[in-house]
Amino acid sequence: MRKRILAGNWKMNKTASEAVALVAAMKDELCQFSSVDRVLCPPFMAIPEVARLVAGTELGLGAQDMYWKDAGAFTGEISPLMVKEFCTHVLIGHSERREHFGERDESVNLKLKAALAHGLIPVVCVGETLALRQEGRTESWVAGQVRAALAGLSGEQAAGVVIAYEPIWAIGTGLAATAAEAQRVCKEVVRATVAGLYGQAVAESLRIQYGGSVTPANAPELMAQADIDGALVGGASLKAADFVAIVSAAAQAQPLA
Ligand code: PGA
Repeated sequence: MRKRILAGNWKMNKTASEAVALVAAMKDELCQFSSVDRVLCPPFMAIPEVARLVAGTELGLGAQDMYWKDAGAFTGEISPLMVKEFCTHVLIGHSERREHFGERDESVNLKLKAALAHGLIPVVCVGETLALRQEGRTESWVAGQVRAALAGLSGEQAAGVVIAYEPIWAIGTGLAATAAEAQRVCKEVVRATVAGLYGQAVAESLRIQYGGSVTPANAPELMAQADIDGALVGGASLKAADFVAIVSAAAQAQPLA
């Protein structure tokens, strides 16, 4: 049985001191929902402070990106060793990295392999633009991103990856995908692609999140879908009450098959 995973992607929001206040405001409540995995992804600068706050709890801590090399002359980058000192998880290939910072399928794959090699749980983001959706290319695009991200991984490694399906048109727009549409892509595109690569058993153990304008209002229906194993939450993860409500909705949804 898959354990749901809820991650808050704070993006470029919150200084270290603001991060401390946000975590303090939700930590105790988040700690109550142990039937689901809960992960906070603050900006790098806040990670050491947040790590101190979540130490000794079951809350996971994630970086929003990382480079794939261990060390070296790569000005401005953060290595897996640096991430691993504080974090359990790492987001890879978020659409904002792809759109604004030149992230490519090839670098996503290298980062994913580095994360697995260092024992970090990777959350790999995939999703189509509005234009691709309107052209009817959602399925081929998302399947291609999944295949490119997982290239060269063993089935065992792939089973430990979390894939976040985030339609770009739904991110930060207040226009979430309908639960039915999100379920359809998570099942018929993401899980089916993984099944095609590694077989049904691996596909059934891999966790798939939905992301894109998840709120306390739409979380119950999204989390009730059989192939949606959690959420990657942006804007709503910056409000303690909202993130707690979303985690609570996931914890209350029917157990996953
Ligand atoms: P959003 O962002 O919840 O603000 O739409 C989701 C994401 O980009 O991960």
